[in-house]
Amino acid sequence: MYRTHTCGELTLSRVNTRVTLAGWVQRLRKMGGMTFVDLRDRYGITQLVFNQETSPELCEEANRMGREWVVQVEGLVAERYNKNKNIPTGDIEILVDKLQVLNSSVTPPFTIEDESDGGDDLRMVYRYLDLRRPVVRRNLELRHRMAMAIRHYLDAQGFLEVETPVLIKSTPEGARDFVVPSRMNPGEFYALPQSPQQFKQLLMVSGFDRYFQIVKCFRDEDLRADRQPEFTQIDCELSFIEQEDILQIFEGLIKFLFREIKGIDFKEPFLRMTWADAMKYYGSDKPDLRFGMKFVEIKHLTEGRNFGVFDQAEYVGAICAPGCAVYSRKQLDELTDYVKRPQIGAKGMVYIRCEQDGSFKSSVDKFYTQDDLKAIAAACQAKEGDLILILCGKTMPTRKALCELRLEMGRRLGYCDKNKFAPLWVIDFPMFEWDEETQRFYAMHHPFTSPKQADIQYLESDPGRVCADAYDMVINGVELGGGSIRIHDSVLQHRVFKALGFTDEKAEYQFGFLMNAFKYGAPPHGGLAFGFDRMVSMFAGLDSIRDCIAFPKNNSGRDVMSGAPSLIDDEQLDELCLKINLPSSKK
Ligand code: AMO
Repeated sequence: MYRTHTCGELTLSRVNTRVTLAGWVQRLRKMGGMTFVDLRDRYGITQLVFNQETSPELCEEANRMGREWVVQVEGLVAERYNKNKNIPTGDIEILVDKLQVLNSSVTPPFTIEDESDGGDDLRMVYRYLDLRRPVVRRNLELRHRMAMAIRHYLDAQGFLEVETPVLIKSTPEGARDFVVPSRMNPGEFYALPQSPQQFKQLLMVSGFDRYFQIVKCFRDEDLRADRQPEFTQIDCELSFIEQEDILQIFEGLIKFLFREIKGIDFKEPFLRMTWADAMKYYGSDKPDLRFGMKFVEIKHLTEGRNFGVFDQAEYVGAICAPGCAVYSRKQLDELTDYVKRPQIGAKGMVYIRCEQDGSFKSSVDKFYTQDDLKAIAAACQAKEGDLILILCGKTMPTRKALCELRLEMGRRLGYCDKNKFAPLWVIDFPMFEWDEETQRFYAMHHPFTSPKQADIQYLESDPGRVCADAYDMVINGVELGGGSIRIHDSVLQHRVFKALGFTDEKAEYQFGFLMNAFKYGAPPHGGLAFGFDRMVSMFAGLDSIRDCIAFPKNNSGRDVMSGAPSLIDDEQLDELCLKINLPSSKK
């Protein structure tokens, strides 16, 4: 037996028991005639004591050990003199009388403790050592517990976990596909699935009724804190259901997880907001509702006062930042610079300070009387001491900029508490999104999403006004998941492909097998997928989903530990009938 106990379980109740432990040397301290070693395994840390006086040879041997050596020890559990209240085993120590070194270690490149001296990049190169750190390991333990709870919930609801293929046909809609060359079919490529979307729909045609899969998905897109090129979805699909059934079942899943994992009981139904309202009041399809600061449209209150900027703007919108009238000139300039950043794109910012004496001070005092400003303040429900911030311009870009400003104010005011959760369903998404650059409509969700029954009539005449039976679950400004009711009728599917600018041939080439399957009695169906990494990251209070993924990629999509992606041999290229043609900038 390598061990009788783990390094995380011995307490005073075991004093005088003889035990065998195995683990890694985290720290070694020599004090007086004693050597103290912190022995670490997945479960915790236990202090070992080697006594120079009673066992000099053993102590010498212990003194030769270095950090991260793997050892096995035997000894008696004893009550500790200097107790450590911070760890569960802090009341005891092991008086070691037998030591076996199982493996030595070179000195690790950083300290393997919660507060490590290793920077991000270095820790990623040695991720297998980083994963020894309890803070990182705890995230993966949480991930496991959540995956188990999800399987438990979905199993109880009658869902079957079915695996779908990873080498599939490329259908580049949405993000870019990762592709894999086929040796046996020279010049042809598989794609890695961006999601199992079409396969889960086929499973509905096959009569599986309720499917789920915790599944890897792959998207070749620009990366951010909440995006990885390979990530995990909780992917689900159901037959003979309507949108309401889906919202109920998966709201149930999220409530179950919060209860089981975080001990938080959401008694009330989750808020629901239409996409149009989310854009109007928060400038985003994933509003962070941990705090208010709803947008107020004030165009009508600003007109006709000779302030050209507002007069010419299509949209004038305001938010009210509570208690911020005290903001200095410098702070206001900082905020103006913030909204003028190219990524945000506002031209400028107007403010109104609601002073304690009931008067108003603004950057546009020249144009607006105290009564005008009072009317704006009233519309924004501003009180004395509040600060009103105003942006203007074209409606959608200005709403998006105001959204960024609102979030920035939320952060500054400490409203973005990671332990507070504000879930909501965003519903009634538009079916299509117009792209100026390519001058065509794109599916806002994906091409299999069903238009709302009442809007089908506008598919050809006015696609922009068609709403979809699509929904997203949003928590704290993060899109945690989304899905839709699907089209199950091949005639309607063809009309949607047409609206998306697909020729019959292109639709047939890309989605022919699905369309064909739909000729054989496709049931009404729908589903959704949650981003599992985002979910775990939110439950763990992390800033990036990387921290809950065992072996993540960096922001350039690289695995700096293994060195992927990498060049391949000429031989491999020949076998695949491939030639590399780098642009001169990359040579
Ligand atoms: P969608 O594209 O909205 O829907 O993806 C579902 C959820 O997956 C997560 N997600 C990601 N997480 C990490 N890194 C990424 N690159 C990434 N991309 C997406 C998000 C998102 O809400 N097949 C449909 C679902 C359906 O209609 O059933 C789909 O994939 O949390």
